[in-house]
Amino acid sequence: MKFKTRQDLIKDYIQFFKKKKHYEIPSSSLIPHNDPTVLFTTAGMHPLVPYLLGQKHPLGKRLVNVQKCLRTDDIDEVGDSFHHTFFEMLGNWSLGDYFKEDAIRFSFEFLTEILNIKKDKLAVSIFEGDKDSKKDIESEKIWLSLGIKKERIASLPKKNNWWGPAGETGPCGPDSEMFIYKGKKTPKKFNPDDDSWVEIWNDVFMQYNKTRSGFEHLAQKNVDTGMGVERTLAVLNNIDDNYLTSCFLPIIKEIESLSSKKYKKNEKEMRIIADHIKAAVFILGDEHAIKPSNIGQGYVLRRLIRRAIRYGKILGIQSPFTSKIAKSVLPIYPDYQELHRNHKFIMTQLDDEENKFIETLEKGIKEFNLLSEDKILTGKDAFLLFQSYGFPIEMTQELALEKGIKIDLEEYNEEFRRHQDLSRTASQGMFKSGLADDSETTKKLHTATHLLNESLRKIFGSEVKQKGSNITPERLRFDFNFPRKLTPEEIKKVESLVNEKIKASLSIVRSEILLQDAIKSGAQAEFGTKYPELVSVYTIGEGKNQFSKEICTGPHTNNTSELGKFKIIKEESVAAGVRRIKAILE
Ligand code: SER
Repeated sequence: MKFKTRQDLIKDYIQFFKKKKHYEIPSSSLIPHNDPTVLFTTAGMHPLVPYLLGQKHPLGKRLVNVQKCLRTDDIDEVGDSFHHTFFEMLGNWSLGDYFKEDAIRFSFEFLTEILNIKKDKLAVSIFEGDKDSKKDIESEKIWLSLGIKKERIASLPKKNNWWGPAGETGPCGPDSEMFIYKGKKTPKKFNPDDDSWVEIWNDVFMQYNKTRSGFEHLAQKNVDTGMGVERTLAVLNNIDDNYLTSCFLPIIKEIESLSSKKYKKNEKEMRIIADHIKAAVFILGDEHAIKPSNIGQGYVLRRLIRRAIRYGKILGIQSPFTSKIAKSVLPIYPDYQELHRNHKFIMTQLDDEENKFIETLEKGIKEFNLLSEDKILTGKDAFLLFQSYGFPIEMTQELALEKGIKIDLEEYNEEFRRHQDLSRTASQGMFKSGLADDSETTKKLHTATHLLNESLRKIFGSEVKQKGSNITPERLRFDFNFPRKLTPEEIKKVESLVNEKIKASLSIVRSEILLQDAIKSGAQAEFGTKYPELVSVYTIGEGKNQFSKEICTGPHTNNTSELGKFKIIKEESVAAGVRRIKAILE
Protein backbone atom coordinates (compact mmCIF):
# COMPACT_ATOMS: atom_id res chain seq x y z
CA MET A 1 0.00 0.00 0.00
CA LYS A 2 1.20 3.50 -0.87
CA PHE A 3 2.37 5.67 2.07
CA LYS A 4 -0.56 7.85 3.03
CA THR A 5 0.15 11.45 3.97
CA ARG A 6 -1.83 13.89 6.05
CA GLN A 7 -3.00 15.68 2.91
CA ASP A 8 -4.18 12.40 1.34
CA LEU A 9 -6.32 11.50 4.33
CA ILE A 10 -7.83 14.97 4.73
CA LYS A 11 -8.61 15.24 1.03
CA ASP A 12 -10.23 11.80 0.93
CA TYR A 13 -12.37 12.56 3.95
CA ILE A 14 -13.60 15.97 2.89
CA GLN A 15 -14.32 14.81 -0.64
CA PHE A 16 -16.22 11.78 0.57
CA PHE A 17 -18.51 13.83 2.77
CA LYS A 18 -18.92 16.55 0.20
CA LYS A 19 -20.25 13.85 -2.12
CA LYS A 20 -22.68 13.00 0.65
CA LYS A 21 -23.96 16.58 0.50
CA HIS A 22 -21.95 18.00 3.39
CA TYR A 23 -20.75 21.58 3.28
CA GLU A 24 -17.08 22.14 4.09
CA ILE A 25 -16.54 24.74 6.80
CA PRO A 26 -13.16 26.25 7.67
CA SER A 27 -11.27 25.26 10.78
CA SER A 28 -12.14 27.67 13.58
CA SER A 29 -9.57 29.46 15.66
CA LEU A 30 -7.76 27.47 18.35
CA ILE A 31 -8.85 30.16 20.78
CA PRO A 32 -12.56 29.75 21.49
CA HIS A 33 -14.63 32.87 21.27
CA ASN A 34 -17.06 33.91 23.94
CA ASP A 35 -16.38 30.77 25.90
CA PRO A 36 -15.06 31.59 29.33
CA THR A 37 -14.57 28.04 30.56
CA VAL A 38 -12.04 26.77 28.08
CA LEU A 39 -8.65 27.91 26.94
CA PHE A 40 -8.47 26.13 23.60
CA THR A 41 -10.69 24.43 21.04
CA THR A 42 -10.61 20.75 21.96
CA ALA A 43 -12.83 19.10 19.34
CA GLY A 44 -14.43 19.78 16.00
CA MET A 45 -17.86 20.11 17.62
CA HIS A 46 -16.66 22.81 19.98
CA PRO A 47 -17.28 25.82 17.71
CA LEU A 48 -20.58 24.21 16.66
CA VAL A 49 -22.26 24.06 20.07
CA PRO A 50 -24.88 26.75 19.34
CA TYR A 51 -25.94 24.80 16.24
CA LEU A 52 -26.05 21.48 18.05
CA LEU A 53 -28.34 23.17 20.56
CA GLY A 54 -30.71 24.20 17.79
CA GLN A 55 -29.57 27.47 16.24
CA LYS A 56 -29.79 27.27 12.45
CA HIS A 57 -26.40 26.99 10.75
CA PRO A 58 -26.12 29.32 7.75
CA LEU A 59 -24.54 26.57 5.64
CA GLY A 60 -27.11 23.90 6.23
CA LYS A 61 -27.61 20.72 8.19
CA ARG A 62 -24.64 18.70 6.94
CA LEU A 63 -21.15 19.95 7.62
CA VAL A 64 -17.62 18.59 7.33
CA ASN A 65 -14.19 19.94 8.24
CA VAL A 66 -10.76 19.41 9.68
CA GLN A 67 -10.35 21.32 12.93
CA LYS A 68 -7.20 22.46 14.73
CA CYS A 69 -7.44 21.19 18.30
CA LEU A 70 -5.37 21.47 21.44
CA ARG A 71 -5.85 19.45 24.60
CA THR A 72 -3.86 20.64 27.54
CA ASP A 73 -4.79 17.87 29.97
CA ASP A 74 -2.24 15.69 28.23
CA ILE A 75 0.84 17.90 28.33
CA ASP A 76 2.60 15.71 30.86
CA GLU A 77 1.69 12.52 29.00
CA VAL A 78 3.48 13.64 25.84
CA GLY A 79 6.60 11.56 25.27
CA ASP A 80 5.08 8.19 24.31
CA SER A 81 4.17 7.16 20.79
CA PHE A 82 0.60 8.47 20.69
CA HIS A 83 -0.02 11.41 23.04
CA HIS A 84 0.11 14.94 21.73
CA THR A 85 -1.29 18.31 22.70
CA PHE A 86 -1.99 19.73 19.24
CA PHE A 87 -3.83 17.49 16.80
CA GLU A 88 -6.25 17.73 13.92
CA MET A 89 -9.71 16.26 14.01
CA LEU A 90 -11.71 15.33 10.95
CA GLY A 91 -15.43 15.52 11.54
CA ASN A 92 -18.81 15.35 9.88
CA TRP A 93 -22.00 16.68 11.40
CA SER A 94 -25.68 16.29 11.01
CA LEU A 95 -27.56 19.15 12.62
CA GLY A 96 -30.96 17.58 13.07
CA ASP A 97 -30.68 15.84 9.69
CA TYR A 98 -29.53 12.20 9.39
CA PHE A 99 -29.04 10.12 12.51
CA LYS A 100 -27.62 6.72 13.44
CA GLU A 101 -28.37 4.77 10.27
CA ASP A 102 -26.68 7.14 7.82
CA ALA A 103 -23.91 8.17 10.22
CA ILE A 104 -22.81 4.57 10.68
CA ARG A 105 -23.26 3.71 7.01
CA PHE A 106 -21.12 6.71 5.98
CA SER A 107 -18.42 5.73 8.46
CA PHE A 108 -18.42 2.12 7.29
CA GLU A 109 -18.30 3.09 3.64
CA PHE A 110 -15.44 5.53 4.17
CA LEU A 111 -13.39 3.02 6.16
CA THR A 112 -13.89 0.05 3.86
CA GLU A 113 -14.23 1.64 0.44
CA ILE A 114 -12.13 4.80 0.60
CA LEU A 115 -9.48 3.82 3.14
CA ASN A 116 -9.72 0.19 1.98
CA ILE A 117 -9.65 -1.26 5.46
CA LYS A 118 -10.72 -4.88 5.47
CA LYS A 119 -13.96 -5.50 7.33
CA ASP A 120 -12.32 -8.24 9.40
CA LYS A 121 -9.76 -5.75 10.82
CA LEU A 122 -12.56 -3.67 12.32
CA ALA A 123 -14.35 -3.69 15.66
CA VAL A 124 -16.85 -1.31 17.17
CA SER A 125 -18.31 -0.41 20.53
CA ILE A 126 -21.76 0.79 21.46
CA PHE A 127 -23.39 2.19 24.60
CA GLU A 128 -24.63 -0.53 26.97
CA GLY A 129 -27.35 1.62 28.56
CA ASP A 130 -27.99 2.95 32.05
CA LYS A 131 -30.54 4.97 34.01
CA ASP A 132 -30.17 8.00 31.73
CA SER A 133 -30.46 6.31 28.36
CA LYS A 134 -31.20 2.81 27.16
CA LYS A 135 -28.85 0.40 25.42
CA ASP A 136 -28.05 1.47 21.87
CA ILE A 137 -29.44 -1.60 20.12
CA GLU A 138 -30.18 0.45 17.06
CA SER A 139 -26.47 1.06 16.37
CA GLU A 140 -25.71 -2.56 17.14
CA LYS A 141 -28.26 -3.66 14.55
CA ILE A 142 -26.87 -1.32 11.93
CA TRP A 143 -23.32 -2.61 12.45
CA LEU A 144 -24.55 -6.21 12.25
CA SER A 145 -26.41 -5.46 9.04
CA LEU A 146 -23.18 -4.12 7.56
CA GLY A 147 -21.44 -7.40 8.30
CA ILE A 148 -19.59 -6.62 11.53
CA LYS A 149 -19.66 -9.84 13.55
CA LYS A 150 -21.31 -9.94 16.96
CA GLU A 151 -18.02 -10.83 18.69
CA ARG A 152 -16.53 -7.65 17.25
CA ILE A 153 -19.17 -5.44 18.88
CA ALA A 154 -18.60 -4.49 22.52
CA SER A 155 -21.31 -2.89 24.67
CA LEU A 156 -19.64 -0.55 27.11
CA PRO A 157 -20.69 1.82 29.91
CA LYS A 158 -20.89 5.59 29.96
CA LYS A 159 -17.24 6.11 30.73
CA ASN A 160 -16.36 4.56 27.36
CA ASN A 161 -19.34 5.12 25.10
CA TRP A 162 -20.82 8.46 25.95
CA TRP A 163 -19.38 11.70 24.70
CA GLY A 164 -19.83 15.10 26.21
CA PRO A 165 -20.81 17.48 27.37
CA ALA A 166 -17.39 18.96 26.92
CA GLY A 167 -17.99 21.15 29.96
CA GLU A 168 -20.45 20.81 32.81
CA THR A 169 -23.47 21.34 30.62
CA GLY A 170 -24.26 21.10 26.93
CA PRO A 171 -24.96 18.64 24.12
CA CYS A 172 -24.00 15.02 24.62
CA GLY A 173 -25.11 11.49 23.91
CA PRO A 174 -24.19 7.85 23.43
CA ASP A 175 -21.51 7.11 20.89
CA SER A 176 -20.26 4.29 18.74
CA GLU A 177 -16.50 4.00 18.34
CA MET A 178 -14.53 2.28 15.61
CA PHE A 179 -11.30 0.38 16.14
CA ILE A 180 -8.66 -1.14 13.87
CA TYR A 181 -6.38 -3.97 14.92
CA LYS A 182 -2.81 -2.88 14.42
CA GLY A 183 -1.14 -6.26 14.90
CA LYS A 184 -0.65 -8.89 12.21
CA LYS A 185 -3.14 -11.56 13.21
CA THR A 186 -6.48 -10.04 14.11
CA PRO A 187 -8.15 -11.93 16.99
CA LYS A 188 -11.70 -13.19 16.42
CA LYS A 189 -13.11 -11.40 19.41
CA PHE A 190 -12.79 -7.69 20.13
CA ASN A 191 -11.17 -6.94 23.46
CA PRO A 192 -11.46 -3.21 24.22
CA ASP A 193 -8.71 -3.53 26.86
CA ASP A 194 -6.18 -4.75 24.31
CA ASP A 195 -4.17 -1.71 23.13
CA SER A 196 -3.57 -3.30 19.74
CA TRP A 197 -7.15 -2.29 18.94
CA VAL A 198 -6.72 1.39 18.11
CA GLU A 199 -9.73 3.68 18.26
CA ILE A 200 -9.78 5.85 15.18
CA TRP A 201 -13.28 7.28 14.89
CA ASN A 202 -16.15 8.23 17.11
CA ASP A 203 -19.74 8.73 16.00
CA VAL A 204 -21.58 10.62 18.71
CA PHE A 205 -25.36 10.67 18.67
CA MET A 206 -26.05 13.97 20.33
CA GLN A 207 -29.63 13.91 21.37
CA TYR A 208 -29.36 15.13 24.95
CA ASN A 209 -28.57 18.39 26.61
CA LYS A 210 -27.05 18.00 30.03
CA THR A 211 -28.28 20.75 32.28
CA ARG A 212 -27.49 21.36 35.94
CA SER A 213 -30.52 19.32 36.87
CA GLY A 214 -30.08 16.33 34.56
CA PHE A 215 -30.49 15.20 30.96
CA GLU A 216 -33.03 16.77 28.62
CA HIS A 217 -33.90 15.73 25.09
CA LEU A 218 -32.57 18.19 22.54
CA ALA A 219 -35.06 19.67 20.10
CA GLN A 220 -33.12 17.97 17.31
CA LYS A 221 -31.09 14.78 17.02
CA ASN A 222 -27.54 15.49 15.89
CA VAL A 223 -24.54 13.50 14.78
CA ASP A 224 -21.05 14.63 15.75
CA THR A 225 -18.14 12.54 14.58
CA GLY A 226 -14.43 12.88 15.19
CA MET A 227 -11.44 11.17 13.62
CA GLY A 228 -7.93 11.99 14.84
CA VAL A 229 -5.71 12.60 11.82
CA GLU A 230 -2.36 11.60 13.37
CA ARG A 231 -3.57 8.38 14.93
CA THR A 232 -5.50 7.25 11.87
CA LEU A 233 -2.52 7.93 9.63
CA ALA A 234 -0.27 5.85 11.84
CA VAL A 235 -2.62 2.87 11.70
CA LEU A 236 -3.22 3.20 7.96
CA ASN A 237 0.50 3.20 7.31
CA ASN A 238 1.12 0.41 9.77
CA ILE A 239 3.38 2.54 11.90
CA ASP A 240 3.33 2.08 15.64
CA ASP A 241 4.29 5.69 16.31
CA ASN A 242 2.32 8.85 15.44
CA TYR A 243 5.59 10.79 15.40
CA LEU A 244 6.72 8.89 12.32
CA THR A 245 3.71 9.95 10.23
CA SER A 246 3.91 12.86 7.80
CA CYS A 247 2.43 15.09 10.54
CA PHE A 248 5.64 14.90 12.55
CA LEU A 249 8.47 13.31 10.57
CA PRO A 250 10.00 16.53 9.17
CA ILE A 251 10.13 17.97 12.72
CA ILE A 252 11.78 14.86 14.12
CA LYS A 253 14.36 14.98 11.29
CA GLU A 254 15.14 18.61 12.11
CA ILE A 255 15.63 17.75 15.79
CA GLU A 256 17.93 14.87 14.82
CA SER A 257 19.98 17.19 12.69
CA LEU A 258 20.20 19.97 15.29
CA SER A 259 21.15 17.58 18.08
CA SER A 260 23.24 15.17 15.98
CA LYS A 261 21.40 12.42 17.81
CA LYS A 262 19.19 9.61 16.60
CA TYR A 263 15.44 9.52 17.21
CA LYS A 264 15.50 5.81 18.07
CA LYS A 265 17.69 6.48 21.10
CA ASN A 266 16.00 9.70 22.24
CA GLU A 267 12.36 9.19 21.47
CA LYS A 268 10.83 10.74 24.56
CA GLU A 269 12.81 13.99 24.40
CA MET A 270 12.35 14.40 20.67
CA ARG A 271 8.62 13.74 20.82
CA ILE A 272 8.17 16.33 23.58
CA ILE A 273 10.12 18.93 21.61
CA ALA A 274 8.28 18.16 18.36
CA ASP A 275 4.83 18.22 19.93
CA HIS A 276 5.36 21.31 22.06
CA ILE A 277 6.98 23.42 19.35
CA LYS A 278 4.24 22.45 16.92
CA ALA A 279 1.55 23.44 19.42
CA ALA A 280 3.39 26.72 20.09
CA VAL A 281 3.50 27.43 16.34
CA PHE A 282 -0.26 26.96 16.11
CA ILE A 283 -1.01 29.15 19.14
CA LEU A 284 1.32 31.91 17.99
CA GLY A 285 0.18 31.62 14.38
CA ASP A 286 -3.54 31.58 15.19
CA GLU A 287 -5.84 34.24 13.81
CA HIS A 288 -6.30 35.23 17.46
CA ALA A 289 -2.64 34.88 18.32
CA ILE A 290 -1.59 34.72 21.93
CA LYS A 291 1.83 35.67 23.32
CA PRO A 292 3.67 33.81 26.07
CA SER A 293 2.65 35.20 29.45
CA ASN A 294 1.72 34.14 32.94
CA ILE A 295 -2.00 34.17 32.23
CA GLY A 296 -4.44 31.72 30.66
CA GLN A 297 -3.53 30.58 27.17
CA GLY A 298 -0.31 32.59 27.29
CA TYR A 299 0.74 30.57 30.30
CA VAL A 300 0.10 27.26 28.54
CA LEU A 301 2.12 28.55 25.60
CA ARG A 302 4.96 29.53 27.91
CA ARG A 303 4.85 26.13 29.58
CA LEU A 304 5.05 24.37 26.21
CA ILE A 305 7.95 26.46 24.92
CA ARG A 306 9.92 26.27 28.15
CA ARG A 307 9.43 22.52 28.47
CA ALA A 308 10.64 22.07 24.89
CA ILE A 309 13.69 24.20 25.68
CA ARG A 310 14.53 22.13 28.72
CA TYR A 311 14.38 18.92 26.68
CA GLY A 312 16.38 20.54 23.90
CA LYS A 313 19.09 21.29 26.45
CA ILE A 314 19.02 17.67 27.63
CA LEU A 315 19.76 16.68 24.02
CA GLY A 316 22.55 19.26 23.92
CA ILE A 317 20.98 21.47 21.23
CA GLN A 318 22.49 24.94 20.92
CA SER A 319 20.15 27.87 21.62
CA PRO A 320 18.29 29.49 20.06
CA PHE A 321 16.73 26.48 18.39
CA THR A 322 12.97 26.67 18.86
CA SER A 323 12.45 28.93 15.85
CA LYS A 324 14.59 26.59 13.72
CA ILE A 325 12.37 23.67 14.65
CA ALA A 326 9.29 25.84 14.10
CA LYS A 327 10.42 26.37 10.51
CA SER A 328 10.14 22.65 9.89
CA VAL A 329 6.51 22.69 11.08
CA LEU A 330 5.22 25.13 8.48
CA PRO A 331 5.64 23.04 5.29
CA ILE A 332 3.59 20.24 6.90
CA TYR A 333 0.58 22.57 7.01
CA PRO A 334 0.37 24.52 3.74
CA ASP A 335 -3.41 24.77 4.16
CA TYR A 336 -3.40 26.90 7.32
CA GLN A 337 -2.76 30.29 5.73
CA GLU A 338 -2.62 32.04 9.08
CA LEU A 339 0.60 30.21 10.03
CA HIS A 340 2.30 31.45 6.90
CA ARG A 341 0.92 34.95 7.24
CA ASN A 342 2.13 35.13 10.83
CA HIS A 343 5.43 33.42 10.11
CA LYS A 344 7.58 36.32 11.31
CA PHE A 345 5.60 36.83 14.50
CA ILE A 346 5.91 33.13 15.37
CA MET A 347 9.67 33.14 14.92
CA THR A 348 10.37 36.35 16.82
CA GLN A 349 8.13 35.36 19.70
CA LEU A 350 9.89 32.00 19.98
CA ASP A 351 13.32 33.63 19.84
CA ASP A 352 12.32 36.17 22.50
CA GLU A 353 10.89 33.57 24.83
CA GLU A 354 13.90 31.31 24.38
CA ASN A 355 16.39 34.10 24.96
CA LYS A 356 14.54 35.08 28.11
CA PHE A 357 14.44 31.56 29.44
CA ILE A 358 17.89 30.22 28.64
CA GLU A 359 19.39 32.96 30.77
CA THR A 360 17.71 31.58 33.86
CA LEU A 361 17.27 27.89 33.02
CA GLU A 362 20.72 26.73 34.02
CA LYS A 363 20.87 28.87 37.14
CA GLY A 364 17.36 27.72 38.03
CA ILE A 365 18.33 24.07 37.79
CA LYS A 366 21.33 24.70 40.04
CA GLU A 367 19.05 26.50 42.49
CA PHE A 368 16.56 23.63 42.32
CA ASN A 369 19.33 21.16 43.18
CA LEU A 370 20.47 23.28 46.12
CA LEU A 371 16.98 23.90 47.44
CA SER A 372 16.01 20.26 47.24
CA GLU A 373 19.11 18.76 48.81
CA ASP A 374 17.08 17.37 51.69
CA LYS A 375 14.65 15.71 49.23
CA ILE A 376 11.85 18.17 49.96
CA LEU A 377 11.03 21.37 48.17
CA THR A 378 8.96 23.85 50.11
CA GLY A 379 6.13 25.71 48.40
CA LYS A 380 8.02 28.94 48.93
CA ASP A 381 11.04 27.49 47.13
CA ALA A 382 8.88 26.33 44.21
CA PHE A 383 7.42 29.80 44.04
CA LEU A 384 10.90 31.32 44.05
CA LEU A 385 11.83 29.11 41.10
CA PHE A 386 8.80 30.43 39.29
CA GLN A 387 9.30 34.06 40.13
CA SER A 388 13.06 34.38 39.83
CA TYR A 389 13.87 31.74 37.24
CA GLY A 390 10.63 31.52 35.25
CA PHE A 391 10.04 27.84 36.04
CA PRO A 392 6.38 27.01 35.51
CA ILE A 393 5.25 24.98 38.53
CA GLU A 394 4.59 22.01 36.26
CA MET A 395 8.25 22.06 35.21
CA THR A 396 9.39 22.11 38.82
CA GLN A 397 7.02 19.23 39.54
CA GLU A 398 8.46 17.29 36.62
CA LEU A 399 12.03 17.88 37.83
CA ALA A 400 10.98 16.81 41.30
CA LEU A 401 9.39 13.65 39.98
CA GLU A 402 12.51 12.75 38.03
CA LYS A 403 14.62 13.13 41.16
CA GLY A 404 12.18 11.59 43.63
CA ILE A 405 11.72 14.86 45.49
CA LYS A 406 8.50 15.94 47.22
CA ILE A 407 7.00 19.38 46.72
CA ASP A 408 4.71 21.13 49.17
CA LEU A 409 2.12 22.05 46.57
CA GLU A 410 -0.37 23.37 49.07
CA GLU A 411 2.13 25.90 50.31
CA TYR A 412 3.01 26.78 46.72
CA ASN A 413 -0.63 27.42 45.96
CA GLU A 414 -0.96 29.61 49.01
CA GLU A 415 2.08 31.56 47.97
CA PHE A 416 0.71 31.78 44.47
CA ARG A 417 -2.65 33.04 45.66
CA ARG A 418 -0.96 35.64 47.78
CA HIS A 419 0.89 36.98 44.80
CA GLN A 420 -2.09 36.64 42.48
CA ASP A 421 0.43 36.42 39.72
CA LEU A 422 -0.92 33.52 37.74
CA SER A 423 -4.28 33.69 36.15
CA ARG A 424 -7.39 32.84 38.03
CA THR A 425 -8.33 30.79 35.07
CA ALA A 426 -5.41 28.47 35.66
CA SER A 427 -6.21 28.05 39.33
CA GLN A 428 -9.89 27.51 38.65
CA GLY A 429 -9.26 24.52 36.45
CA MET A 430 -9.68 26.17 33.08
CA PHE A 431 -7.00 23.81 31.80
CA LYS A 432 -9.66 21.15 31.53
CA SER A 433 -11.78 21.12 28.46
CA GLY A 434 -15.24 22.51 28.92
CA LEU A 435 -17.86 24.59 27.28
CA ALA A 436 -19.56 27.77 28.32
CA ASP A 437 -23.12 27.63 29.24
CA ASP A 438 -24.67 30.38 27.18
CA SER A 439 -25.54 32.14 30.38
CA GLU A 440 -27.63 35.30 30.35
CA THR A 441 -24.73 37.35 31.72
CA THR A 442 -22.42 36.15 28.99
CA LYS A 443 -25.01 37.00 26.37
CA LYS A 444 -25.47 40.50 27.78
CA LEU A 445 -21.74 41.11 27.88
CA HIS A 446 -21.50 39.90 24.32
CA THR A 447 -24.12 42.40 23.15
CA ALA A 448 -22.36 45.10 25.17
CA THR A 449 -19.15 44.20 23.31
CA HIS A 450 -20.85 45.03 20.00
CA LEU A 451 -22.02 48.35 21.40
CA LEU A 452 -18.54 49.12 22.67
CA ASN A 453 -16.95 48.18 19.34
CA GLU A 454 -19.20 50.57 17.43
CA SER A 455 -18.96 53.35 20.04
CA LEU A 456 -15.16 53.33 19.71
CA ARG A 457 -15.46 53.71 15.97
CA LYS A 458 -18.03 56.49 16.26
CA ILE A 459 -15.80 58.40 18.69
CA PHE A 460 -12.32 57.69 17.31
CA GLY A 461 -12.97 57.01 13.64
CA SER A 462 -13.66 54.08 11.38
CA GLU A 463 -10.02 52.92 11.36
CA VAL A 464 -10.61 51.46 14.81
CA LYS A 465 -11.06 47.71 14.50
CA GLN A 466 -11.57 44.83 16.86
CA LYS A 467 -8.37 42.90 17.55
CA GLY A 468 -9.72 40.39 20.00
CA SER A 469 -12.52 39.70 22.43
CA ASN A 470 -12.95 37.51 25.45
CA ILE A 471 -15.93 37.23 27.73
CA THR A 472 -16.32 35.66 31.15
CA PRO A 473 -19.49 35.82 33.24
CA GLU A 474 -17.87 38.66 35.19
CA ARG A 475 -16.58 40.98 32.48
CA LEU A 476 -15.90 41.62 28.85
CA ARG A 477 -12.45 42.21 27.44
CA PHE A 478 -12.03 43.97 24.14
CA ASP A 479 -8.84 44.66 22.18
CA PHE A 480 -8.66 47.25 19.42
CA ASN A 481 -6.09 49.18 17.47
CA PHE A 482 -5.37 52.60 18.85
CA PRO A 483 -2.03 54.37 19.20
CA ARG A 484 -2.23 55.77 22.73
CA LYS A 485 -3.83 55.69 26.14
CA LEU A 486 -7.41 56.92 26.35
CA THR A 487 -7.93 60.01 28.53
CA PRO A 488 -10.43 59.82 31.44
CA GLU A 489 -12.76 62.08 29.44
CA GLU A 490 -12.59 59.77 26.45
CA ILE A 491 -13.36 56.76 28.63
CA LYS A 492 -16.42 58.62 29.98
CA LYS A 493 -17.50 59.46 26.47
CA VAL A 494 -17.32 55.80 25.38
CA GLU A 495 -19.24 54.70 28.49
CA SER A 496 -21.92 57.31 27.89
CA LEU A 497 -22.43 56.34 24.27
CA VAL A 498 -22.80 52.67 25.15
CA ASN A 499 -25.21 53.52 27.97
CA GLU A 500 -27.18 55.81 25.69
CA LYS A 501 -27.70 52.91 23.28
CA ILE A 502 -28.69 50.62 26.14
CA LYS A 503 -31.30 53.15 27.28
CA ALA A 504 -32.59 53.52 23.70
CA SER A 505 -33.95 49.94 23.93
CA LEU A 506 -32.63 48.90 20.53
CA SER A 507 -33.64 45.52 19.19
CA ILE A 508 -31.05 43.00 18.03
CA VAL A 509 -31.79 41.19 14.81
CA ARG A 510 -29.93 38.28 13.29
CA SER A 511 -29.83 37.61 9.56
CA GLU A 512 -27.98 35.21 7.30
CA ILE A 513 -26.33 36.60 4.21
CA LEU A 514 -23.43 35.95 1.87
CA LEU A 515 -20.09 37.03 3.29
CA GLN A 516 -19.40 39.39 0.38
CA ASP A 517 -22.79 41.07 0.84
CA ALA A 518 -22.21 41.37 4.57
CA ILE A 519 -18.90 43.12 3.99
CA LYS A 520 -20.43 45.34 1.31
CA SER A 521 -23.25 46.35 3.64
CA GLY A 522 -20.65 47.59 6.11
CA ALA A 523 -20.91 44.78 8.64
CA GLN A 524 -17.84 44.67 10.84
CA ALA A 525 -15.61 41.63 10.54
CA GLU A 526 -12.61 40.84 12.67
CA PHE A 527 -9.30 41.22 10.92
CA GLY A 528 -7.55 37.92 10.21
CA THR A 529 -10.59 35.75 10.89
CA LYS A 530 -11.66 33.27 8.25
CA TYR A 531 -15.39 33.31 7.60
CA PRO A 532 -17.55 30.85 5.70
CA GLU A 533 -19.35 31.97 2.54
CA LEU A 534 -22.63 32.44 4.32
CA VAL A 535 -22.54 34.24 7.65
CA SER A 536 -24.83 35.48 10.38
CA VAL A 537 -24.95 39.19 10.90
CA TYR A 538 -26.24 40.83 14.07
CA THR A 539 -27.72 44.31 13.70
CA ILE A 540 -28.42 46.47 16.72
CA GLY A 541 -31.16 49.01 16.14
CA GLU A 542 -33.48 49.17 13.16
CA GLY A 543 -33.91 51.69 10.34
CA LYS A 544 -32.55 55.11 11.18
CA ASN A 545 -31.77 53.89 14.67
CA GLN A 546 -29.35 51.28 13.39
CA PHE A 547 -26.20 51.52 15.48
CA SER A 548 -24.06 48.48 14.88
CA LYS A 549 -23.76 45.65 12.41
CA GLU A 550 -21.33 42.78 12.88
CA ILE A 551 -20.62 39.36 11.48
CA CYS A 552 -20.90 37.12 14.51
CA THR A 553 -22.07 33.67 15.61
CA GLY A 554 -23.94 35.00 18.64
CA PRO A 555 -25.71 34.45 20.93
CA HIS A 556 -27.08 37.88 21.86
CA THR A 557 -29.89 39.38 23.90
CA ASN A 558 -33.02 40.48 22.07
CA ASN A 559 -32.93 44.08 23.18
CA THR A 560 -30.25 46.39 24.55
CA SER A 561 -32.56 47.39 27.42
CA GLU A 562 -31.73 44.03 29.03
CA LEU A 563 -28.10 44.97 29.61
CA GLY A 564 -27.97 47.20 32.70
CA LYS A 565 -25.32 49.87 33.21
CA PHE A 566 -22.06 49.65 31.27
CA LYS A 567 -18.86 50.54 33.07
CA ILE A 568 -15.22 50.47 31.94
CA ILE A 569 -13.02 49.13 34.72
CA LYS A 570 -9.67 49.14 32.96
CA GLU A 571 -7.96 50.53 29.89
CA GLU A 572 -4.45 49.38 29.14
CA SER A 573 -1.93 48.51 26.46
CA VAL A 574 -1.47 44.91 25.29
CA ALA A 575 0.93 45.39 22.43
CA ALA A 576 2.28 48.23 20.33
CA GLY A 577 -0.74 50.00 18.89
CA VAL A 578 -3.26 47.74 20.58
CA ARG A 579 -5.35 48.80 23.60
CA ARG A 580 -7.49 46.65 25.85
CA ILE A 581 -10.68 47.62 27.62
CA LYS A 582 -12.21 45.59 30.41
CA ALA A 583 -15.78 46.45 31.24
CA ILE A 584 -18.69 45.20 33.30
CA LEU A 585 -22.46 45.52 33.39
CA GLU A 586 -23.83 46.69 36.71
N1 SER B 1 -16.70 15.15 19.92
C1 SER B 1 -16.28 13.81 19.74
C2 SER B 1 -14.83 13.62 20.09
O1 SER B 1 -14.14 14.57 20.39
C3 SER B 1 -16.52 13.38 18.32
O2 SER B 1 -16.06 14.34 17.45
O3 SER B 1 -14.38 12.51 20.09
